[in-house]
Amino acid sequence: MAKKPKTVFVCQECGYESPRWMGRCICGAWNSMVEEKIIDTPENDSRRRGSAVSSAPGGSGRSGGRPGMLKKVGSAERDRIDTGIGELNRVLGGGLVQGSLVLISGEPGIGKSTLIIQAAENIARTCGPVLYVSGEESEEQIKMRADRVCPEISDDLYVLSETNMENAVAAVESVKPRFLIIDSIQTMYTQELDSVPGSVSQVRACGNMLMRIGKSDNIPIFIVAHVTKSGELAGPKIVEHLVDCVLHFSGERDHEVRILRAYKNRFGTTSEIGAFHMEEGGLAEIRNLSGSFLESTGPGTEGSVITAVYEGSRPVFLEIQALASQANVGFARRTSVGVDYQRLSMILAVLEKKQGMNLSNQDVYVNIVGGLRPDSTSVDLAVALAVYSSLRGIVCPRRIVAVGEVGLTGELRSIQNAEKIALEAGRLGYEQIIMPQKNAAGIRRKPSGIEVIGVRTLSEAVAKFRGE
Ligand code: TYD
Ligand code: MG
Repeated sequence: MAKKPKTVFVCQECGYESPRWMGRCICGAWNSMVEEKIIDTPENDSRRRGSAVSSAPGGSGRSGGRPGMLKKVGSAERDRIDTGIGELNRVLGGGLVQGSLVLISGEPGIGKSTLIIQAAENIARTCGPVLYVSGEESEEQIKMRADRVCPEISDDLYVLSETNMENAVAAVESVKPRFLIIDSIQTMYTQELDSVPGSVSQVRACGNMLMRIGKSDNIPIFIVAHVTKSGELAGPKIVEHLVDCVLHFSGERDHEVRILRAYKNRFGTTSEIGAFHMEEGGLAEIRNLSGSFLESTGPGTEGSVITAVYEGSRPVFLEIQALASQANVGFARRTSVGVDYQRLSMILAVLEKKQGMNLSNQDVYVNIVGGLRPDSTSVDLAVALAVYSSLRGIVCPRRIVAVGEVGLTGELRSIQNAEKIALEAGRLGYEQIIMPQKNAAGIRRKPSGIEVIGVRTLSEAVAKFRGE
């Protein structure tokens, strides 16, 4: 093992290794190569390159390399572990799958460790030993958090403050946990490599080691990962490819609401979200999501329109705020929080062309209140109406909800789940819902207490908004 380390350059985007530095990697990323020192042994080499196929379950040549008929493959129904947190189970697709690797990312301080200690305690209580390996905090710090968020601490919850992967693996062998947590992958290192913790090759090697533990011992593993300022996962993308689920925990610091979203899930959908409140005693689930992002459900104010999106299997109501104000400098500014910038530009262009509004000398700001960032186009109509309301100074006196996608010709395009949104809007006490005509015509169960207004174009919607 007394080999001299050699220098390689590793791409932070794709993990490609090159003996020379390159300004542009073969994956097309610019300036993504970082220098790393590695000790080149055959075992190390395979560890660095570690292919997902060779250590995936069943991929180790159980069938002697012979292909089998798909329909004869036993469908071992993967039993899932209940994490004791309904919203987490929902995002995972109905619980934690045995032997699965779950990456949980998020900004520092968002509540990743809190969520995990809560899940760890529940699993330890119901399923057996859980091992929490932290490279970030001491055992005392973990205990302090656990005291705060867990009413009781199970005898089966073990902690280890450690950054050395080999020691962590030894602890796994002695504890034989039913659930393992690594907090965080960027603090861990394997002594087989010479590079510093958090470097591309370390993150990749530790990821591979964890995958081997998870798949061979059938232990589900939660791997915490930091994200960079721009929201990218720090470290190589290769870890994302390695794991079964990628979850992202987000929210606004000043707001208590936290959203857990799956970006990849081999065992379920990626459309469900989990919602939590950060409270004194840890994270509390928000079961009734629909109205939780609204501060008031009273009549509108200037520049504010309520809309709804469907997140997984639940409708969520959101307030869109817009402000149009005279531009002082030569060019007009457009600022958007929560709404896609390109989408906003398009909606403003349609308003100018079809509504005859002059926005070229107006700064336009748009914000979705509450920290949820929907990627649905069903908020388009509300964005357009909010900008209209702000520019013209018109307030809708009725309590309305507006949903619909705005097309380039000013037409309103239908959205998914309009009927369910209308029913929920009625339940929340709204008086009217403006939606695309096609959606309104397709409604079978008339919602009670709310008038459904179907419109074909943005101009029609504006007229209805004004009460014409
Ligand atoms: P933490 O789970 O440590 O975040 P992460 O692991 O993502 O870095 O939680 C960080 C914040 O959460 C901390 O600044 C304080 C807040 N918090 C509460 O409000 N209530 C609580 O019960 C706990 C444990 C934390
Ligand atoms: Mg933490």
